[in-house]
Amino acid sequence: MYPFAFQKTGPIGVFDSGYGGLTILKKFRELLPQYDFLYLGDNARTPYGTRSFEIVYEFTLEAVKKLFELGCPLVILACNTASAKALRSIQQHDLPHLAPDKRVLGVIRPTAECVGAVTRTRHVGLLATAGTVNSQSYPLEIKKLFPDIEVTGVACPMWVPLVENNEYASEGADYFVRKYIGELLGKDPQTDTVILGCTHYPLLKEKIRRFMPPHIRLVEQGEPVAESLKDYLRRHPEMNARCSRGGGCEFLTTESAEKFRESASVFLHDTEVDVRSVVLG
Ligand code: DGL
Repeated sequence: MYPFAFQKTGPIGVFDSGYGGLTILKKFRELLPQYDFLYLGDNARTPYGTRSFEIVYEFTLEAVKKLFELGCPLVILACNTASAKALRSIQQHDLPHLAPDKRVLGVIRPTAECVGAVTRTRHVGLLATAGTVNSQSYPLEIKKLFPDIEVTGVACPMWVPLVENNEYASEGADYFVRKYIGELLGKDPQTDTVILGCTHYPLLKEKIRRFMPPHIRLVEQGEPVAESLKDYLRRHPEMNARCSRGGGCEFLTTESAEKFRESASVFLHDTEVDVRSVVLG
């Protein structure tokens, strides 16, 4: 059924709670078109952004296990919330006994690495889900790399639903875009760089740009995360050799395949998607 399964080499797994990770997948495919990718969206249980640490960890681990089972040697958590709440535990506690020869990477470190060269005031804002903001993962990761940078986070709980419901370009969305930008700049008026720390936000970028003061730089994740994957594969030839190359891409969803196909078009525009339903857990 799954052409990639049970082969010695396998596709790179890309996991997100829903559709947002498709913005990251798109950049992977642009930068690394020779590789095969297998995308898994836990659309039936999205959003993760408001869920507890334990639940996000449990759901993310189930997804990683599924992608391993289907032959992925490497899985990218293309979801900030999952990266913030589950990545460390999976890397440190689960991988050693589950699959010591496989790897799981996230999106926070590559994004954090970018900001040092962008900010002048050393005051960086973070717009993300409540889960990502409350986890403190971004400030911790940024402080490790750039101890002089202050990070101020604001949770944007309405932004993911606006994108998921295809309302991201509507007038109604303006209110919530202005609201969270206002909160962030109210908390730290010296902010000169803002991380869009959620995979859904690139779809709101036009509006965010419109309501953000023009001197503020926006840091998006797609390119840095794709560059970081490319660099990882270059530095790890043994893993690189285990990633299959055929330029293919398949999609799995915990929701109905038909629903995924329809909604994914918002994120992928042109592309026909080869999608199947899976059960996790
Ligand atoms: N994809 C998630 C992220 O990047 C947001 C969606 C959700 O809340 O599940 O944080």
